[in-house]
Amino acid sequence: MSVPPTILVFDSGLGGLTVLREIVLARPDAHYVYVADDAFFPYGHHGEDQIIARVVPLIGELIEAHAPDLVVIACNTASTLVMSHLRGEYNVPFVGTVPAIKPACASSKTKRVSVLGTRGTIKREYTRRLIHDFAQGCEVTLVGSAELASLAEAALSGNEVSDADIFAELAPCFVESGGARTDTIVLACTHYPLLLDRLVRLAPWPVDWINPAPAIARRVSDLLGAAGRESDEAGAEMIFTSGRPHTLSRALVPFFGGRVPA
Ligand code: DGL
Repeated sequence: MSVPPTILVFDSGLGGLTVLREIVLARPDAHYVYVADDAFFPYGHHGEDQIIARVVPLIGELIEAHAPDLVVIACNTASTLVMSHLRGEYNVPFVGTVPAIKPACASSKTKRVSVLGTRGTIKREYTRRLIHDFAQGCEVTLVGSAELASLAEAALSGNEVSDADIFAELAPCFVESGGARTDTIVLACTHYPLLLDRLVRLAPWPVDWINPAPAIARRVSDLLGAAGRESDEAGAEMIFTSGRPHTLSRALVPFFGGRVPA
């Protein structure tokens, strides 16, 4: 039997699980290592130099420790900064997660698109460039949220999160201008799909929510080449950089395609 490929999925916290679950569906044959850099969460509150100085050497240590066949940076706040640094330093294929502005603008009928991300992602030159190159005549509203990633972590951890707190972060995405309304919202932070049911319920009017995770999974699968025929029996590993034991195992099992993260 062939050795399953190891895919390392990295995020500042639990948001990258929304990317992981799509990759697991596409590649049940792989072995997974999920790393949450919770010791430095939330990335959205750190400066650009701090994030580069944190993530680039940390990924080097993780490559050394786990010898992955491919690394997914399942975090927009990091990917919009570090991908070229990582590719320059390490000889492993990398897949990043960046705001899905191009498909959102291509599919918007009202030509009103909002991008909801961390304040860091929204400020990035990278994000501005995507809009410049791919807005395709759309009016793009950038919404930097200070709290939504933390609210998503809290909700997944079983804590009470109020509708009012979520709505306060979401409301600026809904814009009416020149007789047209926002019809498409880019989820430009991997934490936000954790709250999708609530975002849909709280939306003042229906919109399309763009989550790039399935496209990322297809990219990962293409890069790995033909899938093995069997699901990986070795389970999955979950690592918190704070070293805290994870008490969330049961809640996390669905994200790992039924594997219990060790
Ligand atoms: N999950 C991260 C992202 O996609 C951000 C959360 C944070 O602020 O750490 O941007």
